[in-house]
Amino acid sequence: MRSFIHRVFPLAFVGCVASVVHPSQQAIPEFVIEFAPLSHLWSQEKWFPSDISTHLAHVLPEVNFTIVSDSIGFQDIGSLGNDVFLTSIDPVEDEPSWMLSTENKPEGKGLSGAPATIICIEKEGGILDAFYFHFYSFDEGNSILGQEFSDHVGDWEHIMVRFVNNTPSVIYLSAHSGGFAFNYSALQMTRHRATTFIAGGTHANYASPGPHLHGPDNLLNDRTDAGPLWDVTLNFRGYWFDIPAQTFSVASGAGLGRKEEGDEGVGWLQFEGMWGDEQYPVPEHGQVCNATFNECKFSSGPTGPIAKNLGRNQVCEHETNCTISSSV
Ligand SMILES: *[C@@H]1O[C@H](CO)[C@@H](O)[C@H](O)[C@H]1NC(C)=O
Ligand SMILES: *[C@@H]1O[C@H](CO)[C@@H](O)[C@H](O)[C@H]1NC(C)=O
Ligand SMILES: *[C@@H]1O[C@H](CO)[C@@H](O)[C@H](O)[C@H]1NC(C)=O
Ligand SMILES: *[C@@H]1O[C@H](CO)[C@@H](O)[C@H](O)[C@H]1NC(C)=O
Repeated sequence: MRSFIHRVFPLAFVGCVASVVHPSQQAIPEFVIEFAPLSHLWSQEKWFPSDISTHLAHVLPEVNFTIVSDSIGFQDIGSLGNDVFLTSIDPVEDEPSWMLSTENKPEGKGLSGAPATIICIEKEGGILDAFYFHFYSFDEGNSILGQEFSDHVGDWEHIMVRFVNNTPSVIYLSAHSGGFAFNYSALQMTRHRATTFIAGGTHANYASPGPHLHGPDNLLNDRTDAGPLWDVTLNFRGYWFDIPAQTFSVASGAGLGRKEEGDEGVGWLQFEGMWGDEQYPVPEHGQVCNATFNECKFSSGPTGPIAKNLGRNQVCEHETNCTISSSV
């Protein structure tokens, strides 16, 4: 979900990190799989994880509500501008099935039909940051006094585990405009894997089940519980990111993601625009705004992985106020 307070943070590719150039095509390290988080979706979730290849088949690039290309795919979105909104071909109010992605509800041991995106980045000091990105084709915002705010097409969230000398040390959970960092071992463990909880609709990540208040005057209420378990290691696209070169390379994947990623290449990860529709003017698509909260039912879609401060020194996306909690 997009922030309620739309602060602008610079893309911090901080100059003092000299990262190691990584040989391309090398597999995702075993410890990144072994200590990957396990995540529970909300038991009443309606908007499930989505495959980005499916999403791309149902959107067209628009700038200022005008289509700028008749078709797009993995090969060409990387060259689109950062003012582009990948816009749903179907009216959002129809709740098309690809947006709901019901077929990707995790089953069995946690297999979802939607591949996650895992990006590994080596940094100085024996650090490897593993970003476990979740993508959903729709984010349903929370309600205040019966009014729903900040719905949007496209939703990128991430969990980042910082490994030091191949050992998990800290885990960061994205939630709305920011997130939370914890000592890895502080989280609830399922076997030896940190266990997290994904809020219904907004898909914000939390370290504990139950309600989570946020937003203006803490009026918004995220709901989490031990619903369907999602194990992202069973189906993912895997990549390396090289900070000095600002380039991605394909690593190993798993499941459907592994089959797909060879043909897709890495250019799509360079897309700096938005993965969903631009905020509609009133009253299009049922848009309503409330001046009291300075918020609307629909907001704009989010940026993708490249805009999530992959080069961070601190474990938090926004590094200026990064507190690592030693208990949940
Ligand atoms: C967007 O399109 C509208 C309507 O065509 C036009 O009035 C406006 O100037 C455009 N804005 C930008 C930033 O191009
Ligand atoms: C994390 O927890 C472990 C085990 O409880 C402890 O040894 C370590 O010092 C903690 N690290 C931090 C950064 O709090
Ligand atoms: C905005 O929300 C407030 C508080 O719920 C409500 O009193 C007001 O009627 C709403 N305004 C509009 C235009 O919906
Ligand atoms: C930093 O975070 C703490 C805890 O969330 C908060 O109380 C404090 O206001 C924040 N400081 C700044 C400068 O944002």
